[in-house]
Amino acid sequence: MRIVMIGAGYVGLVSAACFAEFGIEVVCVDKDRHRIEALRAGRMPIFEPGLEDLVKRHVASGRLGFTFNLKSALQGAMAAFIAVGTPSRRGDGHADLSHVFAAAGEIATALSHPLLVVTKSTVPVGTGRRLAAFFAETRPDLKIEVAANPEFLREGAAIEDFMRPDRIVCGIDGSGAQALLEALYRPLAQAGTPLLFTGRETAELIKYAANSYLATKITFINEMADLCEATGADIEVVAKGMGLDGRIGGRFLKPGPGYGGSCFPKDVQALLHTAREQSVPLRIVEAVEAANAARKLKMVSRIVAACDGKVRGKRIGVLGVTFKSGTDDVRDSPSLVVLPALQELGAKLCVFDPAGMEEARKRLPGLTWAQNAYETAQDATALVILTEWEAFGSLDLDQLKTLMHTPVIIDLRNVLSPAAARARGFAYHSIGRPK
Ligand code: NAD
Ligand code: UGA
Repeated sequence: MRIVMIGAGYVGLVSAACFAEFGIEVVCVDKDRHRIEALRAGRMPIFEPGLEDLVKRHVASGRLGFTFNLKSALQGAMAAFIAVGTPSRRGDGHADLSHVFAAAGEIATALSHPLLVVTKSTVPVGTGRRLAAFFAETRPDLKIEVAANPEFLREGAAIEDFMRPDRIVCGIDGSGAQALLEALYRPLAQAGTPLLFTGRETAELIKYAANSYLATKITFINEMADLCEATGADIEVVAKGMGLDGRIGGRFLKPGPGYGGSCFPKDVQALLHTAREQSVPLRIVEAVEAANAARKLKMVSRIVAACDGKVRGKRIGVLGVTFKSGTDDVRDSPSLVVLPALQELGAKLCVFDPAGMEEARKRLPGLTWAQNAYETAQDATALVILTEWEAFGSLDLDQLKTLMHTPVIIDLRNVLSPAAARARGFAYHSIGRPK
């Protein structure tokens, strides 16, 4: 069986390599020539644990190939997955479907046989129907079915999530699609993963509902953390106590500087846009979006307060720019709000991140970039932890203290132990834990 994966980004590349692992022949197509050339030369365009080994193994097995030529890739393929970006549209914040429809247009031009087109990208409800209408109009001579197969992987755990998902959701509108998708996902179904077949609109909405629900859970715990700070309770224990209730579950109850990343912020916005179009109020999701945006700015005030109310001219060390650990992705990271705001207030920032600095340099001009975590602490008035990289949790606090001008840590991810930091003489501020 042979398929085409359009888009060699976080979702496309991981999905292509994992389908190859299932024994399927996959041709991964990207319009970015540099990306394809890098992949052909064995270089990964993104940082994702385990990806390089998996890709190299399946290039060697002959089941995974890379090209920018969609026409040749489509020859003999039974399905084409669209895994291109759907960022926020400038102006109104709805999902920008220009890449999806560009890919569809290229398929319509290049295709010479019947095909199943599957959206793996996150697309607003109704997109599958629009794509089906588009193919019916542009290629009435061919049977082109359209299915929605939203992806639920997380960056940093992408391969594990793809290979051991909680469920696979397939939205279909036709008989051929189900049999083909069942065949593609057979190894996972055999391992016990539920395959949920639904209508296309339902599948599309499941994806947005799931992401918005997870964003809600995070925002809820962040507000509870504020209440813990006001009352002397400990958010880590509150979250544990809540999470032990099986109806709530302990995951996604980690407080922090607000959710970021290439998906939650844009998907929450797109869902709200869909709801407004349909005149259906989503009051909870509206509140989540507003609370999360406000939270990122609140982190700035918190840092300023920990620096005695003033950061102008002060050197501040910053650990982490990626939106979470385990990825090089800085899209919609809290750092993109917090760091420019501190710069604006006159702080001199020295920043380190184990994986995200290359991309962050392009988006955050005017910062000093360090080679390692200790360098950021040199002469610093305060050290801010913005991303929960494991290595930041095991820094040598004594060494940091000798390097710093003033021993102040603002740990926005609760990676350090308050007792250990305070025992070494730090003024230690964290999220939702007793002072
Ligand atoms: P990405 O930006 O990392 O990758 C998209 C790739 O598609 C790029 O390499 C780009 O060059 C390529 N591309 C764009 N148009 C193309 C075309 N016409 N032909 C060939 N290639 C083309 O994006 P991503 O993070 O992988 O996200 C892709 C989709 O998956 C989005 O809809 C996103 O919401 C969704 N999603 C992402 C994640 C995640 O963790 N990143 C998880 C689940 C779902
Ligand atoms: C998220 C979802 O978890 C995936 O299921 C989904 O497929 C993906 O979006 C998508 O649609 O693209 P991802 O953005 O990679 O995955 O990362 P998450 O681990 O969900 O983290 C998102 C943000 O929430 C990060 O900023 C993270 O720091 C924050 N977060 C997460 C918390 O603050 N607390 C938590 O308990 C969990």
